[in-house]
Amino acid sequence: MTDGEQDAKDRLLEQDRTDSRGPLSTDTGVRVEDTDNSLSVGERGPTILEDFHAREKITHFDHERIPERVVHARGAGAYGHFTPYEDLSDLTAAHFLSGPDVTTPVFVRFSTVAGSRGSADTVRDVRGFAVKFYTEQGNYDLVGNNMPVFFIQDGIKFPDFVHAVKPEPHNEIPQAQSAHDTLWDFVGLQPETTHMIMWLMSDRAIPRSYRTMQGFGVHTFRFVNAQGRGTLVKFHWKPLLGTHSLVWDEAQRIQGKDPDFNRRDLWESIERGQYPEWELGVQLVPEENEHDFDFDLLDATKIIPEEQVPVRPVGRLVLDRNPDNFFAETEQVAFHTANVVPGIDFTNDPLLQARNFSYLDTQLLRLGGSNFQQIPVNRPVSQVSNNQRDGFAQHRVHRGQTSYFPNSLGGGCPALADEGVYRHYTEKVEGAKIRKRAESFKDHYSQARLFLNSLADWEREHLVAAFRFELGKCEELAVRQRAVANLAHVDHGLAVEVAEGLGVEPPEDAGGARHTDASPALSQANTAF
Ligand code: HEM
Repeated sequence: MTDGEQDAKDRLLEQDRTDSRGPLSTDTGVRVEDTDNSLSVGERGPTILEDFHAREKITHFDHERIPERVVHARGAGAYGHFTPYEDLSDLTAAHFLSGPDVTTPVFVRFSTVAGSRGSADTVRDVRGFAVKFYTEQGNYDLVGNNMPVFFIQDGIKFPDFVHAVKPEPHNEIPQAQSAHDTLWDFVGLQPETTHMIMWLMSDRAIPRSYRTMQGFGVHTFRFVNAQGRGTLVKFHWKPLLGTHSLVWDEAQRIQGKDPDFNRRDLWESIERGQYPEWELGVQLVPEENEHDFDFDLLDATKIIPEEQVPVRPVGRLVLDRNPDNFFAETEQVAFHTANVVPGIDFTNDPLLQARNFSYLDTQLLRLGGSNFQQIPVNRPVSQVSNNQRDGFAQHRVHRGQTSYFPNSLGGGCPALADEGVYRHYTEKVEGAKIRKRAESFKDHYSQARLFLNSLADWEREHLVAAFRFELGKCEELAVRQRAVANLAHVDHGLAVEVAEGLGVEPPEDAGGARHTDASPALSQANTAF
């Protein structure tokens, strides 16, 4: 980032800041003499409607809450900057990756997924790791998690998955844990969740600190260079402090003593000047090698093993400034997978495609209409110029007679640029319109086994203990049984160990057989009704 860009961003971020230090006034700027006593008839008489100050004060308070995020409601954020190590313009036209002399301001929000806004930090859950880059080509959001895979392969299942994960609807219990019947019911019936469930039951799901957490873009994305050449890419964030977790007993105790444990740690380390850092890494796959793997690169339940494609470090992220106001910044920030810049494009991963619809849709509701990109934390540093007008809470005063394209009267936005524009990657796609997933998405167990085999003995012990603890909270024996039977497809020994103490039959040896979509568990469950 040049000094000029930094100044521009600082100005943007500063211009709406207020210290509220002047004489007390109403929202219309009228000074008030008393804010403790309502206007009343006599000293002991009724309050009168005419008291515009009391009415405004209470009305504003009544409207202070907005809907919390439907997922990832609890979070903590910070500002910082990102600098690439080298020029990546052979791979991508993204300016923010064009060399070490370009530093880009960022806002990052870390979050838990299942709990409500007021829930505890140190629960067993996935963590969000969302980064907004304020680049000179527009905002780019890398909306990732601290685990490299996801529970489901197609976003159409997301509402079902989240309904199963969230507190149960009849009593809103449990608030932010994975230990409940609905989650395990879903997991047992949707074997594609298996790989991610292994991560969720591992120590990765209880990070010690946001500062010691990895991040992953999860999906395969696409870099596109100025000549239009594509390269498939997976994104990784690696914390410079190393990756560290809590152990379960510790996590539970901390929940009681300090529900803000992770949030406080991030805030205090930045206040102390101990700025957390991450290295951005990429795994690159040339387009022509897309089908060289025994899994599908479009399947978000799979990693690309680093033995097959090493991670190349490409840049550094530093967080060095806490927000001034939690609501204005951390709560109102709006990340969206479809916020991309020239040089970064999507793939046909069906989970990503659904996300590209969902985030904007939910933000229209959560942030009260179509002008939320004008909120300071969301505002780009690049120029915004289009014919979009009006809407709730419009803060811009658009001048002129015209707001359409094309127009010959001047004003509005009659000009299209031919440089620095976003060009979609030219991908040839054809096929029948069908609801059917490719065979290449159907192995749900090999990578779950790979993950299990990568664990040290003590990590495996923690994993088994977590499965037992979580499944032990399920009231339905059939739900426990099905979840354990599913594990036998990963590793029979693991399933037998987990079954001990759960009051369920140890499953038969499934021989690590490759799974087909019509799982016995699913057909049993379906025929039971
Ligand atoms: C929020 C990550 C899948 C819908 C978030 C956030 C993150 C995230 C980090 C919090 C953003 C913030 O801090 O404000 C992911 C990852 C996914 C995934 C890594 C899979 C790879 C999905 C899917 C959908 C979805 C499949 C829907 C089809 C949402 C919604 C929000 C959200 C609606 C709330 C956004 C808001 O209110 O601003 N997700 N998510 N996510 N996600 Fe996802």
